Amino acid sequence: MRENPEKLKIIRKPVSLQKFSKKILSSGKSIGLVPTMGALHRGHASLIEMSAKNNDITIVSIFVNPTQFGANEDFAKYPRRLRADLKLCREAGATIVFAPQPKDMYPLPLSTFVHNPKLETLYCGAYRPIHFAGVLSVVAKLFNIALPTKAYFGEKDFQQLHLIRRMAVDLNFPVNVVGAKTIREKSGLAMSSRNEYMSAEERAAASSIYVGMCEAKRLLRRGETSVVKLKEAVRGIVEWAGGKIQYVEIVNKGDLTPMTGKISKKAVILLACFFGKTRLIDHLEL
Ligand code: PAJ
Repeated sequence: MRENPEKLKIIRKPVSLQKFSKKILSSGKSIGLVPTMGALHRGHASLIEMSAKNNDITIVSIFVNPTQFGANEDFAKYPRRLRADLKLCREAGATIVFAPQPKDMYPLPLSTFVHNPKLETLYCGAYRPIHFAGVLSVVAKLFNIALPTKAYFGEKDFQQLHLIRRMAVDLNFPVNVVGAKTIREKSGLAMSSRNEYMSAEERAAASSIYVGMCEAKRLLRRGETSVVKLKEAVRGIVEWAGGKIQYVEIVNKGDLTPMTGKISKKAVILLACFFGKTRLIDHLEL
């Protein structure tokens, strides 16, 4: 199990972490990696705990990655609070926090990107054109820097997890990508670092996302298999609560292709919406 449970080490430089990880691997130990952008909450903690249980060393990376934010997005105001994050990492069982500076991750502006042309333009990608190339490229870098045996990602970012799994397979990364369940607040709202952008009223209203998706699931159980009707049910409830839907789709769980007509195979609802200025994403397996 994990080493030095009482000690949490911070590593800042990519080369230093790479050296450290090579040493760990050569001594026959396993490394779990939990990539994050910080402002950590219980959702992140669940990933760290899972990694700490299953690996000798758990590395949590905390890096607000500039290349995955569009020009008009929230890169500058994304919450940064390393001290609180370190406490959460320690309590959840991390061994190393990797907190690099942008200039060390990107000594030169990135000119080589990982793309998935088909999937990166769908769903969230349709509204955030450079986002997934930025995510895949930084995750590829983190895999090469931290050399994880296993890497942990949340189903919360369902399309992201799918793209990362696919990248690891397509490009032969020697890493086992593990997906973890979405941790929700009592209201059903999926935990997210961006929830704190919302007012108390918006936050309460945003619980309608989960209510709406659960209603679609209930309707399906009662025999409603029309994709259009199920999507309308979600949309109706979120909009009634004051949310603005960006997209609601029902997709095949296996390959994320959109479903039309009647629900046939394993299906997942994917959605993005705004409460006030805050963009939220969520998903539910049907
Ligand atoms: P971030 O939004 O900080 O999320 C880090 C990891 O925590 C992701 O794998 C995400 O799916 C997971 N996560 C977030 N909220 C969760 C919740 N409520 N329950 C369970 N897991 C949750 O996703 C990113 O950062 C970045 O794109 C990153 C992969 C680090 C690349 O920069």
